[in-house]
Amino acid sequence: MGEVSLQKSDVLQVLAGLRLLGGKSLLASGQVRDVLLERHGDRVHVAVLVGQALPDDVEGQVKEAVGRLAAVATVKVVVSSEERRDRPMAAPRLGTATGEKAGGPPGPRVSFRPQPPLPKAPPGAAMIAVASGKGGVGKSTVAVNLAVALARLGLRTAILDADVYGFGVPMLVGLEEGPRLQDRKIIPPRAHGVQVMSMDFFVRDNRAVVWRGPMLGKTLRQFVEDVLWDDPEVMVLDLPPGTGDVALDVVQFFPQAAQLLVTTPDPYAARVAERAGRMALEQGVALRGVVENMAYLRCGEAGEVIYPFGRGGGDAAAHALGVDVLARIPWELKERNLRGNVAHPASEVGKIYRQLAEELFVQQERS
Ligand SMILES: Nc1ncnc2c1ncn2[C@@H]1O[C@H](COP(=O)(O)OP(=O)(O)OP(=O)(O)O)[C@@H](O)[C@H]1O
Ligand SMILES: [Mg+2]
Repeated sequence: MGEVSLQKSDVLQVLAGLRLLGGKSLLASGQVRDVLLERHGDRVHVAVLVGQALPDDVEGQVKEAVGRLAAVATVKVVVSSEERRDRPMAAPRLGTATGEKAGGPPGPRVSFRPQPPLPKAPPGAAMIAVASGKGGVGKSTVAVNLAVALARLGLRTAILDADVYGFGVPMLVGLEEGPRLQDRKIIPPRAHGVQVMSMDFFVRDNRAVVWRGPMLGKTLRQFVEDVLWDDPEVMVLDLPPGTGDVALDVVQFFPQAAQLLVTTPDPYAARVAERAGRMALEQGVALRGVVENMAYLRCGEAGEVIYPFGRGGGDAAAHALGVDVLARIPWELKERNLRGNVAHPASEVGKIYRQLAEELFVQQERS
């Protein structure tokens, strides 16, 4: 009997590639609750749990496409009988650009600054913002790797460098070309399958950007509205650090974006991340969870795990905010590679980002 290597993620990848009417992927539609695999020897029975019955032709496509995977014996599409109120379904757990609120603790909506008019974000795109309290904890690194992992799952993905002062996304994805212009619209370049927009493209000689206030909103609005985005299903936002005015302005500009909080295991970083999370909740923004970056280091030939930055920061921030730690990313000692910082899909870190991307889109069963 051969070993069956089929994984849930293989099925998800197929589902992500299936387009419904209107070109939206089945995964992004939020209808998929879970995928269950039952192994019998070298054959696998697959059940795709959905929130409501799929149209016959869509169900047929699911069965056919999944059935083509090696080792799959049968494919069932099952309407999940248990509608869990406390666990909303996949895609709506991310905010969508139509203004729909994401799941998670709702938090009070306290508006203490005037709300700017919402930008016309690409219709249908779920937005997820990567935030932190402290600078330098790895937000941008997490944002680009998450975006690439989503694209690798087959979702049309864009990343918007909303850190209009501390922009660095193009370098992190190893982009050398800039955007092109077409009929006064900006066509974003792609890296690793992800469409990228950043202030970096418009600043010569790495000069400091000194504007603020209305200019900030204007720039962000242009990035969203004057850019010819290629119908993204997910847009990842790399937020500026901190809980000050600039971060608050950006958060208020994209209230439809659910937030992912990045912290290191350091208690101080976690405290500041917690404050950033509370700021988001006060704005009525949904929190999706915490990513603990630089969580551990593998060293020596045996890959012994040590904790150079301490332990517990991710758990502390998540506990305080009532969310989960969705990923723990190791600190990687490597030569600084100026051509980007995107993990290889087969590496330990690449797999962690892939799981994170799946977690954000598909309901995982937890015991
Ligand atoms: N897991 C990791 N292992 C090793 N180095 C990392 C890791 N994550 C981030 N770094 C490095 O740490 C530095 C800061 O990361 P990054 O720029 O992503 O943080 P940031 O939170 O976006 O910073 P800022 O607040 O300035 O925007 C970078 O040099 C990055 O390459
Ligand atoms: Mg950054």
